[in-house]
Amino acid sequence: MPRSTVRPYKLLAAHYDELFGFARSWGEFARTNLLANVFPKIDSACDLACGTGTAALELARRGLKVYAVDLSPTMCRLARKKARAAGLPVQVIQADMRNFRLPRPVGLVTCEFDALNHIPRKKDLGSVTKAAARALQPGGHFYFDVNTRLAFEKIWPLTWWLEKPGVVLVMRGGYDESSGKAFANAEWFIREGSLWRRHHEYVEQVCWTAREIREALHAASFRSIRKWDAAPFFKDDPFVRRGYRTFYLARK
Ligand SMILES: C[S@@+](CC[C@H](N)C(=O)[O-])C[C@H]1O[C@@H](n2cnc3c(N)ncnc32)[C@H](O)[C@@H]1O
Repeated sequence: MPRSTVRPYKLLAAHYDELFGFARSWGEFARTNLLANVFPKIDSACDLACGTGTAALELARRGLKVYAVDLSPTMCRLARKKARAAGLPVQVIQADMRNFRLPRPVGLVTCEFDALNHIPRKKDLGSVTKAAARALQPGGHFYFDVNTRLAFEKIWPLTWWLEKPGVVLVMRGGYDESSGKAFANAEWFIREGSLWRRHHEYVEQVCWTAREIREALHAASFRSIRKWDAAPFFKDDPFVRRGYRTFYLARK
């Protein structure tokens, strides 16, 4: 597979809310606090790498016109289904965050839960910041969070066991300092009748330094770049300690 190719989530998409939904309330808490001054000034938003659409739906509940973009067809299908069930005006677009385009510019682009770490090549960060800038109205905001190198060193080498009825996920990974990439092998056990079938999925994330992020934002004409450590927003999560995750807010 060429190094620039992104592996779309498959089983991780199908079981995402079931296994990782618990973490999204922290994301909502951070968004509500960090964007408190932005929300009153906007009428539209785009959630980039929207996953199953949880954040997009919350933005739509605020009365915003919302676009939701994701590369994974399964994620897009689940996000559409959730938006339809909730009766909320979310337009889901299957696209790559490196070159997506919206029907009209918006006041806010969000990209949450370390989705930016999924970009496969260092040089692609600039494509994402430029695509986000193009999607924004003048003065619009780009909000995102990233896993830091410390998280990759401390958390990714651990073995994770997540279990729900009929589904077991074991994740084992590591961090390769020379390439600046973290990886996780996801071993799935899915119950099929009285038997369990094993599947394998591979996830890779790229580590961005604060400097690389600032340079990519500046090159895309973002100004007034602010950042916060995520730990105070993830108070009951033992895996988000100080220095593990950073939130960014940049203004076009
Ligand atoms: C960790 S999940 C985060 C999902 C969601 N933002 C949330 O907060 O739950 C990462 C998401 O990024 C998406 N993704 C990965 N690479 C992408 C790309 N190049 N363009 C668009 N979406 C991408 C995946 O399909 C997945 O839905």
